[in-house]
Amino acid sequence: MKILGIETSCDECAAAVVEDGRQVLSNVVATQVPFHAPYNGVVPEIASRKHTEWIYDVVKEALHKAGVAPKDIDAVAVTNRPGLLGSLLVGVSFAKAFAWARNIPLIAIDHMMAHLYASRLNNDTPPAYPFLGLLVSGGHTIICRANNFDDITVLGTTIDDAIGEAFDKVAKHYDFGYPGGAVIDRMAQNGDSEAFRFPLPSLHKGSHRYDVSYSGLKNAVINQSEQFRIKKDGAIKPDDIAASFQKTAIETLLRALFNAVEDSNLTTIVAGGGVAANSYLRASLAERQVLHCIFPPPEFCGDNGAMIAGIAYQYLIRGDRSPLSITASARVDGFKKKYP
Ligand code: KG4
Ligand code: ZN
Repeated sequence: MKILGIETSCDECAAAVVEDGRQVLSNVVATQVPFHAPYNGVVPEIASRKHTEWIYDVVKEALHKAGVAPKDIDAVAVTNRPGLLGSLLVGVSFAKAFAWARNIPLIAIDHMMAHLYASRLNNDTPPAYPFLGLLVSGGHTIICRANNFDDITVLGTTIDDAIGEAFDKVAKHYDFGYPGGAVIDRMAQNGDSEAFRFPLPSLHKGSHRYDVSYSGLKNAVINQSEQFRIKKDGAIKPDDIAASFQKTAIETLLRALFNAVEDSNLTTIVAGGGVAANSYLRASLAERQVLHCIFPPPEFCGDNGAMIAGIAYQYLIRGDRSPLSITASARVDGFKKKYP
């Protein structure tokens, strides 16, 4: 069964064709980065307009690369939550039109659930449920227990900024480049991660055992970096700032994740989201040989249509369909942690 997946929740205009939830036949991602870079962040108005301009060609290319015609597509899947409302609506409207014109099922997808599914793409040995999910992106930081492809229990989350947002804000402040995550990751390769000792949040007890916080770290790096400098001699090196910040950001995440491992007895960890591409995170988890850590290949970490088409297959074979009246939601309540 071939599913067309459409993803326009933020600044990537993406479409893909995936067969039977696993085999990726095409995966086209048209990035808007050059259009948002002058502003050092995504401008929602520009994002919606670019999606409107590009979506037809992106879908056409995804079909062409997969070697299929519209008549070969069995269902259309689209991200309808969470994300930028104007951007989401472009993908949703296009997907509805495609489904209606071809008289095929429409499946509305939760973007974060799809990130968690991404590691199953092109993977002949996908991990069995349950496992621990680590969802790290520009808007979310979630540690969860995944019981099934659409059933997660949020164990921990950020109490303020998302991890990707912290990377982006630090890069923006220092003018390192945009988007910040990949730039800081690259700079950190040449930096000394011990040059600064930035504070870890004091969130390791009770109901916050699996939670993280990034606003304190972000502010320390941006406003008070001199105060946390270990080697006081010489000028402050940008690569050292990047390496020290990245180390603290990832250690914060790992501390909460390892608490979840300890308490849940789950040793399989499945990562997803743009920050799952981070090399320090990957290397740190690879060192833990008692854990089985699964990362999607880099092309499926950031936003893409393949993860949308992939997870949609699971809904489709269960008999789920979305009505042509679906709309988009900027937020999803289910990702909020329930405190005792
Ligand atoms: O999943 P994604 O593409 O979009 C959202 O759903 O938010 O994630 C984007 C985030 C951005 O904050 C970006 O800076 C971050 O992922 N990112 C990284 C890396 N590559 C992308 N963060 C850390 N290290 C990376 N290598
Ligand atoms: Zn995403």
